[in-house]
Amino acid sequence: MSDYQVQIFDTTLRDGEQVPGCKLNTDQKIKIAKQLDFLGVDVIEAGFPVSSPGDFKSVDAIAKIVQNATVCGLTRSVENDIKIAAEALKYAVKPRIHTGIGTSDSHIKHKFKSTREDILERAFKAVSYAKSFVEDVEFYAEDAGRTDNSYLAQVCEAAIKAGATVLNIPDTTGYCLPHEYGAKIKYLKENVKGIEKAILSCHCHNDLGLATANSIEGVINGARQIECTINGIGERAGNTALEEVVMILKQHPYLNLETNINTEMLYGISQLVSESMGIYTQPNKAIVGANAFAHSSGIHQDGVIKNRETYEIINPKDVGVTESAIVLTARSGRAALAYRAKNVGYELTKLQLDDVYSNFLKFADMKKEINDTDIHEIIETSSIFNQIIA
Ligand code: KIV
Ligand code: ZN
Repeated sequence: MSDYQVQIFDTTLRDGEQVPGCKLNTDQKIKIAKQLDFLGVDVIEAGFPVSSPGDFKSVDAIAKIVQNATVCGLTRSVENDIKIAAEALKYAVKPRIHTGIGTSDSHIKHKFKSTREDILERAFKAVSYAKSFVEDVEFYAEDAGRTDNSYLAQVCEAAIKAGATVLNIPDTTGYCLPHEYGAKIKYLKENVKGIEKAILSCHCHNDLGLATANSIEGVINGARQIECTINGIGERAGNTALEEVVMILKQHPYLNLETNINTEMLYGISQLVSESMGIYTQPNKAIVGANAFAHSSGIHQDGVIKNRETYEIINPKDVGVTESAIVLTARSGRAALAYRAKNVGYELTKLQLDDVYSNFLKFADMKKEINDTDIHEIIETSSIFNQIIA
């Protein structure tokens, strides 16, 4: 792997599927896993095998069909979890066990009623045990975002000594600010002995709307894996959105960081996940929302019709959206109306456009949005209709 390559670890089928109401059956998971593999993700976290027989079955089925990506299963630092995950992953071409434990004082005190020393030992043992089944073991330090950096460095060191290939630094509660998360990654890069043997991974939650920014700060500071989900779905306010981090790295080439993602598949897979989970994507969602390439104010429409780049930083085709949309509302201008009229077959002269436009405004004040059928009606009911040749 080149130093510029950022691995994309997709956890739609694990962290994403934990969302209430998003449960998928094995067939739906297989369909999504196949698309993720075509999309070019490096790792598919297929589930948490010990959590239910259904999850075990899905991880096992995905492990059998995925051809390119590493298939990963989550565990706690518990022997039985690890044994069951290894069993579910046994047919994977590239299996990975993802094991870990909470490392913040809050988790140590309230969840485990334990001590830092004990957690360090449990982390070491879990990774060592996972290593007895597979070569590729990722360790997560849950709530790393709120874990004291020097203790976190000790835990990471222990995980590396036990053979961890990837160290996941989750901002589980979405609390960190981007500069803090970036500094945490930098600190680990500079203070963990043996860090060159492992990849640091960003796993950020979106409680303060900072998951994407934090993940990007993470890779700028030396992490080389981002854990994310399609449409940013996930616990509470969600996880880092895959489509966002991928497009940020693509649109900012001077960062010198790239992914293997076939970006033209992003819109299609976003639709597939949203339909399969029955979870609607907000229209203003970056990259894949219905309005991400829609222009409705007159000033913007005029600019985009003259040159798309005046108001678009991404070519919609690059993410699988056929074209930018010029939406007609009462805020639209003549340029947009002429453009849409031409699309449905009317080439209007300047004079005709003036007349049709005043009729259009009457319609537009009554409706939220003017569609193609309305355009025909507007033209047919305008006073100069008999002079217009369709
Ligand atoms: O957010 C988190 O800490 C997690 C871990 C279990 C990896 O999802
Ligand atoms: Zn998570």
